[in-house]
Amino acid sequence: MNDRHASTEDESSSEVSREDVRDFYSKAAIATQESLCCPVKYERVDLSHIPERVLEISYGCGSPVSQANIRSGEFLVDLGSGGGIDCFIAAKIVGASGRVIGIDMTEKMLAVARENAQAVSQNLGYNNLEFKQGFLENIPLEDESVDVVTSNCVINLSTRKKDVFKDIHRILKPGGRFVIADIISDQPVPDEMRNNRELWGECVSGALTLDEFLGYSREAQFHGFTVTKDYLWKEVEGLKFYSYILRGYKHSLPASCCAGAQLAIYKGPFATVTCGNTSFSVGVPVEIDGDLAEMLSAPPFEAMFNIIDPENEEIAAGDDSCCA
Ligand SMILES: C[S@@+](CC[C@H](N)C(=O)[O-])C[C@H]1O[C@@H](n2cnc3c(N)ncnc32)[C@H](O)[C@@H]1O
Repeated sequence: MNDRHASTEDESSSEVSREDVRDFYSKAAIATQESLCCPVKYERVDLSHIPERVLEISYGCGSPVSQANIRSGEFLVDLGSGGGIDCFIAAKIVGASGRVIGIDMTEKMLAVARENAQAVSQNLGYNNLEFKQGFLENIPLEDESVDVVTSNCVINLSTRKKDVFKDIHRILKPGGRFVIADIISDQPVPDEMRNNRELWGECVSGALTLDEFLGYSREAQFHGFTVTKDYLWKEVEGLKFYSYILRGYKHSLPASCCAGAQLAIYKGPFATVTCGNTSFSVGVPVEIDGDLAEMLSAPPFEAMFNIIDPENEEIAAGDDSCCA
């Protein structure tokens, strides 16, 4: 895969290319790169079916799969899957009826992942795993086919991050979600640092600020964000780089039976919350349109609101109405 000419930088003024990143990770697939190792605490039980070789080249900065509330039978895609650690953890959780695909551009990483997938499948007693070569910016999967996208310390490495968010949105089913562990900087990374290939490869100088990350996600039409600041990883030239877990949702399909006005009652615990331009005070009915009713009836909001049809004053959430 040669993409030197396809890689037109957008938001990034960096001189670093995807080929630089691929060279970096080709080496990291062969021998453990200590400078890349963030302290990630995986649960022992989650790793019991995974060969040691995979753990040696694990370069994540969090455990997105363990925080994605994955259900049995779901279809999960891990972007920048590397040696496959998060795919292998997910393969156990989604079970035999689920499916896991890892996407990575680096052949040497894919080779390690594929080789160890056989042992993992044997240990699990079923095979629901696949590793595909591809780019985060142009994911080789169909539109609206995936339940959950995870990624572990990879978005920061992309030189075209806006394209990554757009493509994650494209492949997710309506109502689907992303759960991403990544490095976030406390201030925008200056240009001379962004041009440093070594620092970029080490997941430092390609980092976004939290505002940038959420801005790109909103631009790609995601909503319902939750953010967990995990730990301070590094301080470089006065900038602080933290490990975060970030989650967001793709809108569900518009609810055809809910086109009319609805009432939403916020259940608490805060006195007031705001969603877009609409404020909700705890316990006070607010008239909203069908689209917002549909959004507040789905994750991650559904536990926070009662949605009421004013025509018959019945609580829709939990009954058989299509808004439930
Ligand atoms: C820091 S490693 C993380 C690997 C894995 N997620 C883990 O936790 O061990 C980054 C991985 O992302 C891949 N990668 C980086 N940029 C990519 C891109 N634009 N498209 C596809 N893969 C990419 C690299 O090849 C490498 O395997």
